[in-house]
Amino acid sequence: MSEEIALVPGDGIGSEVVPAAVTVLEALDSTSRFEFVEGVAGDHVREERGEALPQETYDLVASADATLFGAAGESAADVILPLRAAVDSFVNVRPARAYPGVDALRPKTDLVFLRENTEGVYAGHESRLTGDVSTLTRVVTRSASARLAEFACEFVDDSGGSAVDTGSQSDTNGGRAADASPEGFTVVHKANVMSETDGLFRDTVVEVAETQGVETTEVLMDAFATRVCLDPTQFGVVVCPNLAGDVLSDLAAGLVGGLGLLPSANIGPERALFEPVHGTAPDIAGENVANPAAAILSAAMLLEYLGYENDARTVRRAVEEVLASGPHTPDLGGSATTTEVTDAVIATVVEQV
Ligand code: NAI
Ligand code: MG
Repeated sequence: MSEEIALVPGDGIGSEVVPAAVTVLEALDSTSRFEFVEGVAGDHVREERGEALPQETYDLVASADATLFGAAGESAADVILPLRAAVDSFVNVRPARAYPGVDALRPKTDLVFLRENTEGVYAGHESRLTGDVSTLTRVVTRSASARLAEFACEFVDDSGGSAVDTGSQSDTNGGRAADASPEGFTVVHKANVMSETDGLFRDTVVEVAETQGVETTEVLMDAFATRVCLDPTQFGVVVCPNLAGDVLSDLAAGLVGGLGLLPSANIGPERALFEPVHGTAPDIAGENVANPAAAILSAAMLLEYLGYENDARTVRRAVEEVLASGPHTPDLGGSATTTEVTDAVIATVVEQV
């Protein structure tokens, strides 16, 4: 039985790094079982058709077993938010790891952000009251907070096995090195100010963790931003509301050497969508110099999600090896092209299989 994988490269470097990741997947045996189906979305589609996300692309993602997405430009909110909804994604898993061989501000960083993926300030309730006054309604529900917390408990529970191995050399515990992480997870919020919304988020997450016997610590969002910069090794798995997860994971990208390294997974109950954290990078698009690591590591998360753990590990190790010894794209101080880095990863994959 073949598995249908939707590919939605999108705009800018999305259309460079997604095909690169697919060539890595094609070097593996398991993917002979995959049927890749391409969907279009993004600014270039809006220019041609007047809509950034055609219904057929939405339907493809909503029915495929998994999706690999690249990035969309100015139409990002009109593309990625509906696509995350198409897989009914309730959590965005964003690992941020420093790699040997990559110059990082904080070389011991090994974090995984579990970001609420449906509500908060991204629920879309914005309005313009008058010409000079606009408002935004923030939505937090017990059910979405509890669903995230249940996932987080499973994620940190070694024996329970995580839904996604996030990319480290270790095999479980959410893919994080077992010796590096504090127990349980950290809940990041701002309930001291947003007592209703973040209060409900914090209380629900902590309650669920207590019933599951998982340890939690709480850190206010602003204090977390400072503390994670000063010493990221204090933290491991970080559970946060939607906007906080978006911002803090990009901040963590800065600690480990840039956006070209961060993969992510949008997990739903029955399907999932995988994407690099970065956007379309218009400053380097079309030059074949984008770092393909984030997209390739996202593809490894896809393999893990579909149950191909060995292949996922093979791909991750190949990326780690290439990051350790080169070649490197310009964002990491090298002069290699996207194609050269991808070919080096493929050569290492082929050696292993
Ligand atoms: P960006 O992530 O596209 O770029 C930020 C910086 O990081 C740029 O200097 C870029 O060259 C660099 N960078 C990003 N990925 C890289 C890679 N793989 N290799 C080497 N360098 C890389 O974010 P920016 O500039 O804020 O947004 C550009 C466009 O992307 C905007 O139109 C935005 O709406 C869209 N965007 C889309 C997202 C999505 O589709 N999920 C997410 C973030 C931004
Ligand atoms: Mg972002």
